[in-house]
Parts: sequence; C-alpha cells; structure tokens
Amino acid sequence: MKINNVVVIGSGTMGSGIAAQLCNANIPVTLLDLKTEISQKAKERIQKSRPPLLIDKSKIDGIKVGNISDDFKAVSSADWVVEAVVERIDIKHEIYEKIFKERKKDSIVSSNTSSIPISVLSEKMSEEDKKDFCITHFFNPVRYMDLLEIVKNDKSDLEKINNLKSFCEVDLGKGAIVCNDTPGFLGNRIGVYAMQVAMTEAFKMELSIEEADAIFGRPMGIPKTGVFGLYDLIGIDLMADVLKSFIKELPESDEFQIVAKEIPLIKKLIETGYTGRKGKGGFYRMNKIENKKILEAINLETGEYFPVKKIDLKSDKVDLLKLINRDDKYGKYAWSVISKIIKYASSLVPGITDKFNDIDEAMRLGFNWSRGPFEMLREIGVNNFFDKIGKFQKNKFLEDLFHSKDENFYGERQKYTDIETLGKIKPKALKLDKNNSAEIYRFKDFNIVEFKTKANALDYDSMDALKNATDKPLIIINESMQFSAGVNLTYTMNFADKSDFKSIEKFVKYFQDTCKELKYSKFPVVSAPSGLTLGGGFEVLVQSNFVASHTNIVVGLVETMVGLVPAGGGCKEMLWRWSQDKEAKNDPDFAALKVFDIIGYGKTATSPVEAEPLKYLLPENKKIMSRNSLLEVSKSILDNNKNFIPPKEVSFNLSGKPLKDKMIKMLENLYNENKILDHGMIVGTELANVLSGGDTTIDKTLSEDDLYKLELDAFMKLIQTNKTQDRIQHTLSTGKPLVN
Ligand code: NAI
Repeated sequence: MKINNVVVIGSGTMGSGIAAQLCNANIPVTLLDLKTEISQKAKERIQKSRPPLLIDKSKIDGIKVGNISDDFKAVSSADWVVEAVVERIDIKHEIYEKIFKERKKDSIVSSNTSSIPISVLSEKMSEEDKKDFCITHFFNPVRYMDLLEIVKNDKSDLEKINNLKSFCEVDLGKGAIVCNDTPGFLGNRIGVYAMQVAMTEAFKMELSIEEADAIFGRPMGIPKTGVFGLYDLIGIDLMADVLKSFIKELPESDEFQIVAKEIPLIKKLIETGYTGRKGKGGFYRMNKIENKKILEAINLETGEYFPVKKIDLKSDKVDLLKLINRDDKYGKYAWSVISKIIKYASSLVPGITDKFNDIDEAMRLGFNWSRGPFEMLREIGVNNFFDKIGKFQKNKFLEDLFHSKDENFYGERQKYTDIETLGKIKPKALKLDKNNSAEIYRFKDFNIVEFKTKANALDYDSMDALKNATDKPLIIINESMQFSAGVNLTYTMNFADKSDFKSIEKFVKYFQDTCKELKYSKFPVVSAPSGLTLGGGFEVLVQSNFVASHTNIVVGLVETMVGLVPAGGGCKEMLWRWSQDKEAKNDPDFAALKVFDIIGYGKTATSPVEAEPLKYLLPENKKIMSRNSLLEVSKSILDNNKNFIPPKEVSFNLSGKPLKDKMIKMLENLYNENKILDHGMIVGTELANVLSGGDTTIDKTLSEDDLYKLELDAFMKLIQTNKTQDRIQHTLSTGKPLVN
C-alpha cells in the first residue's frame, strides 16, 4: 500500500517535526492537537524554525491543522496515522481507541513514544488492530536527525512494516532500523548510558567539564559538544526525566542503574533554573562581565563558574588505541569510558538486537558518532582490548570473542538497509591511496574520494587525492556529517604566521588546477554533498560535472566573511552561471552585479530549494531526501553517462572599469550607512576587481584561466593584510566570523 496521506496527532516538538518532514516529502499531512490554536501555533513554529524544518517554506500549506474533536474524520482517509502526544499511557490508550474506530482498513498506525514498550501501548487493542500497529521513534530535530527506530510487536504485519520502513527510508530520508521492544530501543539505551558513564567517570576521576568534553568528543569520534555540552543542549531537566524512566523500566541488575543515580549538583542546577541552554545556563553559561560576553564552565566540586579553559590534546585525529594508552588522566578516563560502553553494549546482544552492527548505526544516525561501540572495539583490536580489560561478567558476546580472538569479527556494516551505501561498499572496495586528508577507493569501474579531516576542511592533500583520482569516473562523497566546510583556515594561517605567502599561493594555485581538472578531465565527476558545503567545498562541487545533493545541505560562498574572496574558481563559475540567465542577454553587467551581491554578502542556502534561486545549485542537479541513497544516485549518474564528453571551456566578456566603478559606488553607499567598515571596503573592492574582469573592456574575451588569475591575485592581496588575518583568527578561535 502506498502512503499518500498522513495524520499526525499531537503537534508538539515531535509531531510538528514529523509533519514538516512529511511536507518536505510532498505528502499531504494533517496535524491535530487538543485545540486548533495549538496546532496552528505549531505550524507557525515550523515556519520560523532555525535550523529550518522545512526545505521549502512556501510549501507550509501542505500541512493542514485541526483539533481532535472536530477534525478527527481526517483519520478515516489517512494511510498512516502517527501518534505523537505527551508521554502518558492513559492519553495514548484513549487516542488509539478513537483512531482504530475511525481509521480506514489497511492503514498503519504508529506511536512516537520514546520509552513506553509496544506491549503496553497495544495492550488494549484487538488482535486485528495489533497487526497494523508499531512504534516509529523519530529523533529531534526530525529533518536533521537520520535515525528512525521502528519497533514491531509479535502480531505485526511484516509486509506492512517493511512497506513503512521503505517509505521512511526513501521518501522521508531516514535510516530506519527495526529493533526489539526493549526500553530506550537501541539509540537511547546506548547513547544515554554512554553520556551517563562519561559524566559519572568525570566526577569520579575529578576531571573538569572542559577536560571531559575534550576527550568524550572529537578524539573519540563523537561531536565536539561532548557530554556536558550535550546535557546543556538537550536540557538538564529533560535528561533527569529520561533517567527516571530508564530506572523504572530496567531491571535492578542492569548496569544502567549504577550510572543513572541522581547527582546532587544536577538536582541543584535544575532547582535553580540552570536547565541548560534554554534556561539560565547549565554546565556552561554565558556571563557578561564589563559588557563582554564570557563563556564559563561550572566546577563540578564547588558548583562555582569560571571562565572556560581550552584543553589542548595536541591532536585532532581519532586514534583510539593511542588515546586509551595515554599515560595520563586523559588516557585513563578515555579507557574507562570506552571500555564500559563496549562492555555494556555487547552485554545487550542479542537481547536488544541480534545484529550488533545496528547498534553502531544507531549511534551514528541518532547521536552523530563517527563509529559505534563495536567499531571502537574493532579499532582498538580484540587482543589489545582483552589484554587491558581483565575480568568481565555475564557477557556472551565478549566470552565468544575472547575464545575466538577473531580480529575480523565485525563482518558487514549497515545491515539494516538494502540500499548500497558508502559504508557498505567501502569494505569491499579497493583502497587505492590514503593521505592525511582523504582516502581514494576503487569500486568496480569508478573511483571514490572521501575527505577525512575535521569538518572536511580542505588542504593540499585533499586536492592531491582528487587530482590523483581523475583517472576513472569519480564520485566525491563522504560518511561524515559535512561535505566540506571550506578551505582549512588553520593550514592557511600556519603559513601566514610565518609570512610564507609563497606556500599559500602554491596551495591556491593547486586548488585551482585540481578543480579545473575535475571539470575537464576525460571522465565524469559527481559531487554528492550533505551538510556544510561552503567556500572551497562549494568550489569543488561547482566544478564537478554532476551533482547529487542531499536535501540537508548548507551551501554558499562565505569567503568575504573572513575577509577573503573565493579563489578556487567560485567567482568564475558563479559569473558563468549568471551570464546564462536570460536577463544577462540584455545587460552585460547583470551577471557580475548579481554575483557581487551574492558573494559580497556571503549568502548561504539551507536547502536545494533555497540554493537554486542563487544558482548555487541548478535545476538539473539531483536532490535527494535520503542521505543513504547518495551513492546509488551518483552511481546511476555515472551509468547514464558512459559516453561522457567533457564540457568545452567557457569565456567571459566583462565591462572592466565602468562595472567596477558601479560596484564601488554600491560599496560606498554601504560604507556611508555604516553597514561595512574600512576593511569591508577593501575586500569588496578586490571582489569588484575580479567580477568586473580587472583591466579589461567588454569587447575583450577572457578565458577561465584569466579569471582564476584574478581570483588568485585578489586572494593573495587580502591574505597578506592584518585585518583579514585577524578575522580568520577570530573565526578559528570562536567558530564564528566577526560581524561587520
Ligand atoms: P510535547 O509536549 O512537545 O507535545 C505533545 C503535544 O501533545 C502537545 O502539543 C499537547 O497539546 C498534545 N496533546 C496532549 N494530549 C493530547 C490529546 N489527547 N490529543 C491530541 N494532542 C494531545 O511532546 P513531544 O516532545 O513532542 O513528545 C511527543 C512524543 O514523542 C512523546 O511520546 C515523547 O516521548 C516522544 N519523543 C520525544 C522526543 C523529544 O525529543 N521531545 C524524541 C523522541 C520521542
């Protein structure tokens, strides 16, 4: 049965997120709550949400709203009814009774519960109704969190469940894992346990919260929010409720109980309104001292706040073995946390799932870990693990592994999906090469480049990998969250600090040469972006022959924000794209002025729908809801272009000085209105020089190389200014560009 029409009941955080994602998939949805005012408010919240829940805000009316008294008849035409009301069993039971009376035959009904077992949810249902009922546990925010846990009961109609799973995977873009009916399912059971271990061990080992977050973060392949940062983000009070529910649902002998005990400091924080980012602050808080904002962290012993101390672990790379073998408190903490997580996760197999690999995937999709507990075990090495761990109890999985000592125990990844993903094919592909920043794989008759740096920031090695991979059709794709946040500014500043501008010039030139090669090499190149695709990352995309874009991207040329101009072909490509617009036929300056506005303001788009009007993406680029499908779509592009002919080089006719003068006039107006400052004038003038064609006239034809040269010259002038270097340093130390 096809799902063409959905009703969501309960328009809070989750119901509105689910409705928005259905709207993103162009599925008509009705959102019901106790009163229409509540669901109407939810709709307004969806429209204003940041990051946006909608891919295309103009589609908001795809969501109809109503109340459960007057508008319940909507249920009778729905193919799928999702219940997302408050976590109260009495209310849920009442709703199910109503739904099953009203719903059409063959429809499927699900609950978004995070903690109530399906056996309890369905206890009052008839055997017939139970067949059509399951749990669909989405994560918040629904558009951005890929994990969906589907829990079936022993009566479930499996064909229907599979149908729903495939709809949620393909149409809604989720990584849908079917799991057993156990408390917290996979993601939260392990994820919340991991957070509690990371927290309780920090208390026990007397680590500061900055230290704990520095370890239980990037070095372990976990988002940099760490544990205390994540607590603040989720809400310290909400976490306390989650723990209470686990304490109630899990047997007393479960290891979870040990780490879920109430901590006096946390109780005090909640009582005094320090519930995290939504409250007065939490483990971290922003304080204002003499009009300056200062980030502070709480001292776990005294409960007092002090300015945050940066912890330098001397390495950005994830190297678990090295980390757990560090001969200091950080090494001890890492080992204690990692070993406990591995022990706990493995002790739950096969109870919570017989496919242990699915636990890893749940941690990737639901908590954005780059590897789950079993992959951590594999990475540490089975023998190394058992050498260090000593005794362990009641753990069939570890006992078996202890006897086999099989370093290759892992087998396949991503068993939960039939889609041929990058994660699935990597172990089967031939690893052709690897450097500090990227890996090159050969699979069948094409190459894959996967960037491997923090936020996939690009440097010389990233370019080298791309250049070396153009001897076959190429797909640029990666498993980590971001396609690329742009050029590696730390790498660039390391040269600038030594006034080694020659090396910067060499790098930018190599960047340009590589992008040119991507565009004109004999073989087609496909970029498959997801997440941040900014600056240099966008320049790689825009000079690829084809694009298969995830609908969750943030794309744009943001170089001016750090006092630079795009110099890897970004100005050139945008000029070309806009010169193809019909308005450009009558006005030779139209394209350059448009691009001046877009790049000058560092405009970004948060979806392909927003990207097209800026021409960051084109109508012919593929847009895909399911991140897992990016590789398959990219492959089908290659299959459809077996007789690929590289594009012809393009040329430009730009007006030169009169056009530049027009742009400078615009800058002067902004300057007079205090919208830009002195350095903004300088950056804007350099951008104007590039986009007007430099020292040229309209009848002179400029080549792509001429444009590359103008970009490079402008970049080199700007990178040598103190003001640009200050802006880059500011961005590197705060993670945000300077405003103005
Ligand atoms: P919420 O409190 O934001 O929203 C619940 C909504 O249900 C409210 O708008 C309320 O007016 C409405 N409601 C209450 N009784 C109703 C009734 N009889 N008929 C219709 N609507 C009614 O709750 P939230 O956070 O959206 O949670 C909903 C469900 O999703 C819960 O089962 C929760 O456990 C689960 N969940 C929550 C997650 C989260 O991060 N907030 C994550 C995953 C699951």
